[in-house]
Amino acid sequence: MDHIYKNIHGYSDNLIAAYENFIKNNNKSHLKIVEVGVYLGRSASYLAVELYNKNISFDLHLVDNNWDKIGRKEFYSSQHQSRFEKIMWLYDRVVNVDEEGRLMVAVSRKLMYFDKKEDFANVRKENFKFIDEVTQNFKYFSDKVIFHQMDSKETSEKFDDNSVDLICLDANHEYESISADIKYWYPKLKYGGWIIGDDYCDQRGNGVKKAVIENFKDFWLIDNNGTIQKGDEKLSNGAWFLQKN
Ligand SMILES: C[S@@+](CC[C@H](N)C(=O)[O-])C[C@H]1O[C@@H](n2cnc3c(N)ncnc32)[C@H](O)[C@@H]1O
Repeated sequence: MDHIYKNIHGYSDNLIAAYENFIKNNNKSHLKIVEVGVYLGRSASYLAVELYNKNISFDLHLVDNNWDKIGRKEFYSSQHQSRFEKIMWLYDRVVNVDEEGRLMVAVSRKLMYFDKKEDFANVRKENFKFIDEVTQNFKYFSDKVIFHQMDSKETSEKFDDNSVDLICLDANHEYESISADIKYWYPKLKYGGWIIGDDYCDQRGNGVKKAVIENFKDFWLIDNNGTIQKGDEKLSNGAWFLQKN
């Protein structure tokens, strides 16, 4: 099966390298996998197709609490990307819509009316729900993929301890959030299982790095070229990963 992940808008090239590395080292014929922070499923789609092509059976649990959001396909080009991001950023902060379609948006704890009616009118008119898009992106795997449109912590409570072969954490990268995700999800990992997380240190800050260093003594970093190095306070990019032992 051909990969489709390059056609799915997303943020996960380091993760894709981390998944590739995981599969290279895997010797199991069936895997139970959780990805927390899925968005439209770019990284998870890479994983699903690659496992399918390698004849490895799997249950892939996809967790995201934000699939009610709406998007618009024609913004998925690099040319329009930043405009799309801006619109979606504002859209996420809408607290009210008046009769003329003007949006009241909460920005930096202030309420602003946003005047660009046209952009927003179109976003509303030609929208699609993320959940529909993500479902479509996994249509060939409907018997293997389980969607959890829920918060990370709430979903983790549905899993037994020591029951998952691979957990990927790519949700909110703020220190408190990623620390909580590690706390809730790491016990769910089997001994010998792998945990992977994106953006060890990104332009938004060091939250992930701090949480990973606090929770794990030994871990690795992998960048989008597949280069692996031992995790370290001084390093600053890539996805982080380790095997539970
Ligand atoms: C960086 S994106 C994920 C990128 C994705 N892995 C890809 O391949 O493009 C982060 C996602 O995490 C989700 N998220 C953030 N906080 C969450 C939480 N507490 N529970 C579940 N999902 C969360 C967001 O809705 C968003 O879709």
